[in-house]
Amino acid sequence: MKQVTLIPGDGIGPEITEAVKAIFEAANVPVKWEEENAGQTTFDSIGELIPQTLIASLEKNKVALKGPITTPVGKGFKSVNVHLRQKFDLHSNVRPAKTTKGIDTRFDNVNSVLFRENTEGLYSGLEMFDERLQISDSVARITRTGCQKIIRSAFEYAKKHGCKKVTAVHKANILKGAGALFLGVFNDIAKEYPGIEADDKIIDNMCMQLVVKPEQFDVIVTTNLFGDILSDLCAGLVGGLGVVAGANIGDDMAIFEAVHGSAPDIAGKGIANPTALLRSAIMMLHHLELKDEAYRIEAALEATLANKEECTGDLGGKANTMEFARNIISKL
Ligand code: NAI
Repeated sequence: MKQVTLIPGDGIGPEITEAVKAIFEAANVPVKWEEENAGQTTFDSIGELIPQTLIASLEKNKVALKGPITTPVGKGFKSVNVHLRQKFDLHSNVRPAKTTKGIDTRFDNVNSVLFRENTEGLYSGLEMFDERLQISDSVARITRTGCQKIIRSAFEYAKKHGCKKVTAVHKANILKGAGALFLGVFNDIAKEYPGIEADDKIIDNMCMQLVVKPEQFDVIVTTNLFGDILSDLCAGLVGGLGVVAGANIGDDMAIFEAVHGSAPDIAGKGIANPTALLRSAIMMLHHLELKDEAYRIEAALEATLANKEECTGDLGGKANTMEFARNIISKL
């Protein structure tokens, strides 16, 4: 039995978490959940966004599944997601985007995995604001070590999964410092993987290429801000944020998460789509080397998604969250 920290999160988080727990139980997955929450819910109850008990659980278990977390608006509230990524050096944000039978999209053959650097760049937290002059500086610091970690993660993934190409996305034509450092490290590391094509694209061209001919991309690797934007763009190509998985991977810890937010507009109604969290949980099973369980749940999910009637309203179906979960369970 593997013990995993479970962070239900805010808004629709607890509802989609219940669905995933029910599916795991029905599939006899040998995972024991240790539930510890964070975010608005814990802030309202105990005055803490990230309780110490959660940190202790993560340090012990090293693997977590996380629902969406509301970041209270206002000064002084740090994002729980950014804090956890930086505290535990979860340097690689991994976001697969694959066309699914039954989910209507403009393209029918997208199959890419985006690796976004998760702790540096414009999200380093190096922000200065001169009140008197009304000037703001946001420093996009990247390091050789940070570039090496994310680029190596991308090539290692490509090698393990038999991917043909890794595309680096940058703005080295204008950002002579950071862009050149990232691209230079990419070209160096690419030489160690002669069987994999190394390609690079400037970010603006990449956006255009992705919405015109997305099937040309395999593994994509980029810095934090570009990756944040491109990963949602890629989600849009395959059905939106409700259906894509995400993982934050470090050297010795991994947090798998639904990439959408807490959806306050539908929270408490029991109609949220649990697919994104379930797909993240399936990625987690692969990480835990529980491959049979991962493939079994994935097959049941794909079979359910192929029949609109059995899905939640956002996918054009009539089922609520738990009915959708039961439809998956019936196909295990
Ligand atoms: P959101 O992703 O929560 O919602 C955007 C739209 O998508 C809404 O109409 C919502 O109903 C719909 N939606 C999202 N997930 C869905 C699901 N699973 N099933 C069906 N419909 C779904 O984005 P929004 O409204 O910008 O953010 C709300 C809160 O979530 C904010 O406090 C934000 O900070 C937080 N957030 C947290 C994230 C995380 O924890 N990873 C990521 C993005 C936002």
